[in-house]
Amino acid sequence: MKTIIEDMTEKINIQGMERAGQIIKDGGLVAFPTETVYGLGANALDETASAKIYAAKGRPSDNPLIVHIARMEDLYTIAGTVPEKAKLLAEKFWPGPLTMIFQKKPIVPYGTTGGLDTVAVRMPDHQVALELIRCGGGFIAAPSANTSGRPSPTKASHVEEDMGGRIDMIIDGGEVGIGVESTIVDLSGDTPVILRPGYINQAMLEEVVGPVDVDPTLLRTDCKERPKAPGMRYKHYAPKADMTIVEGTQEKVIAGINDRIRCALEKGELPGIIASDETADRYPAGVVKSIGSRKDELSISRHLYSVLREFDELNVSVIYSEAFDTPNLGQAIMNRLIKAAGHQIIKV
Ligand code: TXA
Ligand code: MG
Repeated sequence: MKTIIEDMTEKINIQGMERAGQIIKDGGLVAFPTETVYGLGANALDETASAKIYAAKGRPSDNPLIVHIARMEDLYTIAGTVPEKAKLLAEKFWPGPLTMIFQKKPIVPYGTTGGLDTVAVRMPDHQVALELIRCGGGFIAAPSANTSGRPSPTKASHVEEDMGGRIDMIIDGGEVGIGVESTIVDLSGDTPVILRPGYINQAMLEEVVGPVDVDPTLLRTDCKERPKAPGMRYKHYAPKADMTIVEGTQEKVIAGINDRIRCALEKGELPGIIASDETADRYPAGVVKSIGSRKDELSISRHLYSVLREFDELNVSVIYSEAFDTPNLGQAIMNRLIKAAGHQIIKV
């Protein structure tokens, strides 16, 4: 299959958008930018179309998809009951990087929800995404547009690497703004629960709806329970190299990483370092990449996946990363980093 690339980095091209919408209505696949990561879209109400998403990504069929909408009233077409707290959160954060879980109506096929009776819904804050949803019939199922197990795409070129030749179209909307996937909140109990941390953090949610819990499996304990969002259970975001996070005060981290880089080089390995703008020049050896500035949290989240992809291309064999427990996005960033590292953390 030849994948059409539509350039909408400068502005939306109406004809291209109509073509994209038609592909979705005809049951095809279109990758598109959102404010978080690129999504791989199909008509959410068409089971055959959703099945193509699973095939293109190599995604396990019990891992449900998020349904993207462009208008608040469309929520009521697919969600059974909409709790008051969900209405408040939607009012405050939609369009935006927040996904909420609802009881599904029969119109949503089990092929889209991975066999669950619930459906995850989000309204993205990106003009290209919203326009595509409108042109494509209103309901677009979209996981991140990466091959299952690879870092989520934050640029159209990442999507092309993973999905080129397997999908009908990629809409290039430039680099995304946030770079980590949406916050997922389950509102089925009395207290809302964060199933996946993202840009909208616990404090922001609590300001609107009072106490909010975090799925304990996401915290850095030796929790033996299974995460409630099926996708959080799979090995994910994994670079090819063996990755370790080094945690502690800045000076100790720099010294600890430099020691390990020396050992790796002595063993003939090609080591990589994930550093920050503030520390990058303190690592004299190894392949050093700054992920962003600690003074600008979004620069860190935005570049996280792209740095992991770059290290894959460079074929580094080991990666040592600083920890990034930044004030607002720290939980979301560290959740992805820890998964990429397969939970290997060294405290120095
Ligand atoms: O930012 C995002 O959310 C991006 C963009 C494209 O919108 N999408 C995204 O989709 O990250 P995906 O498929 O990569 O991640 C969806 C997550 C998975 O962990 C999945 O298991 C969970 O949402 N999920 C979906 N439906 C669910 C449900 N009904 N109950 C619990 N978890 C659900
Ligand atoms: Mg994903």
